[in-house]
Amino acid sequence: MKIYLSRDAVAKALGAEDVAVAIRDEAEARGITVELIRVGSRGMTWLEPLVEIDAGQGRLAYGPVRAADVPALLGGEIDTLGRVEDIPFFARQTRLTFARCGVIDPLDLDAYEATGGLKGLRRALAMSGEAIVDELKLSGLRGRGGAGFPTGIKWDTVRLARADQKYIVCNADEGDSGTFADRMIMEGDPFSLIEGMAIAGIATGATRGYVYLRSEYPDAIEVMQEAVRIGRARGLLGADVLGSGRSYDMEIRVGAGAYVCGEETSLLNSLEGKRGVVRAKPPLPALHGFLGKPTVVNNVISLATVPVIFERGAEHFANFGLGRSKGTIPVQIAGNVRFGGLFETAFGLPLGELVDDVAGGTASGRPVKAVQVGGPLGAYFPREKFDTPFGYEEFDGQGGLIGHAGITVFDDTADMLGMARFAMEFCAVESCGKCTPCRLGATRGVETIDRIAAGDPAAAALLTDLCETMTDGSLCALGGFTPYPVMSALTHFPDDFARQKEAAE
Ligand code: NAI
Ligand code: SF4
Repeated sequence: MKIYLSRDAVAKALGAEDVAVAIRDEAEARGITVELIRVGSRGMTWLEPLVEIDAGQGRLAYGPVRAADVPALLGGEIDTLGRVEDIPFFARQTRLTFARCGVIDPLDLDAYEATGGLKGLRRALAMSGEAIVDELKLSGLRGRGGAGFPTGIKWDTVRLARADQKYIVCNADEGDSGTFADRMIMEGDPFSLIEGMAIAGIATGATRGYVYLRSEYPDAIEVMQEAVRIGRARGLLGADVLGSGRSYDMEIRVGAGAYVCGEETSLLNSLEGKRGVVRAKPPLPALHGFLGKPTVVNNVISLATVPVIFERGAEHFANFGLGRSKGTIPVQIAGNVRFGGLFETAFGLPLGELVDDVAGGTASGRPVKAVQVGGPLGAYFPREKFDTPFGYEEFDGQGGLIGHAGITVFDDTADMLGMARFAMEFCAVESCGKCTPCRLGATRGVETIDRIAAGDPAAAALLTDLCETMTDGSLCALGGFTPYPVMSALTHFPDDFARQKEAAE
């Protein structure tokens, strides 16, 4: 009998390690042979720790499983949820990037290959750098970190740059609250990231890569380090990648945990051992990046999506999506929801469908008031905007952004003035201090919102003015995007700001 149990940080936090011990103990007590395979997460947080049992008739799911449930589980006394693929939350997804996550042992390179892994890299190794970049451009892949810049164009800039050394840097400093796609793929399918980075290296002529991984992700660090070690031992990394005579190697670097180090130039400073302060652009990292050399800086999901594009072809990928938002996007559903987790879908699904149908509305059972899309710097969407399809341009057109595709749901008890204040406070705490609109603006923003709360009639106009200055004058997205949550709260939920005023009067 094979038993699959998640080793993802969420499952562990919910007791997966105790379940693993209980399974081994119970199997021994019953005298049955069990092969316990630790996998990544299938992404259904409310079912973790999720157990799948294959007793010869396919994998049947059970969850959430506690250690105390294990005797009944192995005794066949617990009802199964059926196949994971048939659970509505999962069945509605299009899994390309996350196809393997939760299915195989993340550190089993043979299982990775048996499920299509390394096909993309083998194909890329037989192509010229120009042809690889052309294929990527054709796929329409855009940066999944948030900005949505075309990945193929970024790679081309690095490919065409003349330098004795180039680098691939993976931005794994996933700092947005409510986002976890990077962590999940690193813990659940690390070879897809390694393969994507190797393809980037082969395409651009970069022979070294780094994953800049946040210290708050100890499980991801452990899995990635082990995967790199295995990759080297098995010839996937090193001086002769898969026997091609081409060289590409990489290592994992751990950040110390500053939100601003997710901004690419700040990340590069940190990677070089300097303070994580934002650098002015231009010059772009693509031309003047790590140690002053041409550098591809891409988010984890952008890079981990590259293998499937090369395995199945650019067209297959580009056929999914909406307008200029091609392929799939791993939406991370969090906050006050019944069904939270990772939902990979083709671009184009309306926000309301994600919130009401996929996420099942609020966990509290109260009406949804607002959804913040794109992390702490994303705009709050009221129900009137729930028909907005999930896409870069579509959200931009509604005064928002999809960012790293995290959505956080709030019910009608949320105080939107408090949320606006929190955004300014967050910016004040996390500001790197390099430019004035952000360094001072955020602190003045907190004070101005407090003045609104106290009933100052001039303060709302002042806040609007301040937000314009922050948008136009900040050097990076931290200061530049903080106005999104603030202004969307003020615009869409004026009552929350007026009520405070009335209370003061
Ligand atoms: P940006 O618009 O300045 O740049 C986007 C990317 O394209 C950068 O890598 C830039 O170097 C590159 N680029 C631009 N022109 C290029 C060219 N001609 N050739 C080659 N490369 C070129 O955006 P930025 O400031 O890097 O990122 C902002 C985004 O980050 C926001 O949309 C926000 O949602 C997101 N974000 C994500 C977080 C996360 O945890 N994933 C946290 C905070 C923000
Ligand atoms: Fe630093 Fe804020 Fe300016 Fe960005 S906007 S460079 S975080 S001070």
